[in-house]
Amino acid sequence: MSSEVQRSETQSSATQPGDKRRQIVLSGIRPTGRLHLGNYFGALKNWAELQDRYDCHYFLADWHALTTDYADTSEVAPNTLDVAADMIAGGLDPARSVIFVQSMVPEHSELFLILSMLTPLGWLERVPTYKDQIKQLENKDLSTFGFLGYPVLQTADILMYRAHYVPVGEDQVAHLEISREICRRFNSFYGEVFPEPQPLLTPTPKVPGLDGRKMSKSYGNAINLTDTPDEIRKKCMQMFTDPQRLRKSDPGRPEVCNLFRFHELVSTPELRERVDRECRGAVIGCVEDKRLLAQVLIDYTEPFRRRREELLRDPDTLRDVLVEGSKKARERAAETLELARAAMKLDYSQSALRRQWQSRVAALAGSVGPA
Ligand code: TRP
Repeated sequence: MSSEVQRSETQSSATQPGDKRRQIVLSGIRPTGRLHLGNYFGALKNWAELQDRYDCHYFLADWHALTTDYADTSEVAPNTLDVAADMIAGGLDPARSVIFVQSMVPEHSELFLILSMLTPLGWLERVPTYKDQIKQLENKDLSTFGFLGYPVLQTADILMYRAHYVPVGEDQVAHLEISREICRRFNSFYGEVFPEPQPLLTPTPKVPGLDGRKMSKSYGNAINLTDTPDEIRKKCMQMFTDPQRLRKSDPGRPEVCNLFRFHELVSTPELRERVDRECRGAVIGCVEDKRLLAQVLIDYTEPFRRRREELLRDPDTLRDVLVEGSKKARERAAETLELARAAMKLDYSQSALRRQWQSRVAALAGSVGPA
């Protein structure tokens, strides 16, 4: 991975955004609420780093949000704007990436329909998260066509841009596998229209939440990318530390302390080393450590808060960014659909029809030809 990264970096001056020689990267996120540090270190930071080396497409999967939130849809559009602001605040650059909203590119739905025709039901029923999610979200009726078909929609999202790479976490590789299978099935029926998308696996650190479980919005243990300094301080004070360290005079164990996982992510080596030493030596207590960490986190996220504020000061501009991005996305999407329709012979252009018609006439002539 690192050699790939390095090689591409030295080449980056040779290719500019939109350059046809660049390979295409696509990824999306479901807009369900503000982004947190788990989203940042698990995805966004990496997406931002890819922008100089690939032709990147990042989108807000608002239709995907509907697969589980179809009854009350009032939050979908405001959440989409909110997450877009976080994405840009966290480093995605509309000048270097195509940033768009799924439903503003209605071409996704046509490709979804085409792919749904050739996707065997069994493949969808076997997706590991399918039955899991239905059980986990038992307050919602997820026995819908849309929920079962969401891996097909996700496949359409990827194939729509003939993407080469999809940056995903390890837990999503199974989802990408079904996309690759649907892609191969299309190509085997109609011809090679789509490159087979590869996962772009980057080593992403596991980001714990305040309580040590995986950071997740649904666990209520998240620190958001653009939380205020006060919110960050308050959350840091709630963080779990070494459960065996009851008094400040007890020596601490950074290797089991949740705070230390964060120092590893955001602190300078000097501070990390100092905390390690002074925690083990019972020089600093957990409260002092929390204060130190809160300050580091506040400084680390300062530019994100600043950019987000700027963006929200002018929501029309933010909307324009998404409209522009979606327009750009539509150009490539329309091209892809033309290729797909032509490959499937669903081509009603005059020249195509004449060609097909002539072969009928020829066949007819053959069958009534001289006996
Ligand atoms: N399923 C992803 C999520 O829940 C979002 C998504 C939709 C996506 N389509 C995609 C990710 C295509 C990568 C590629 O956040």
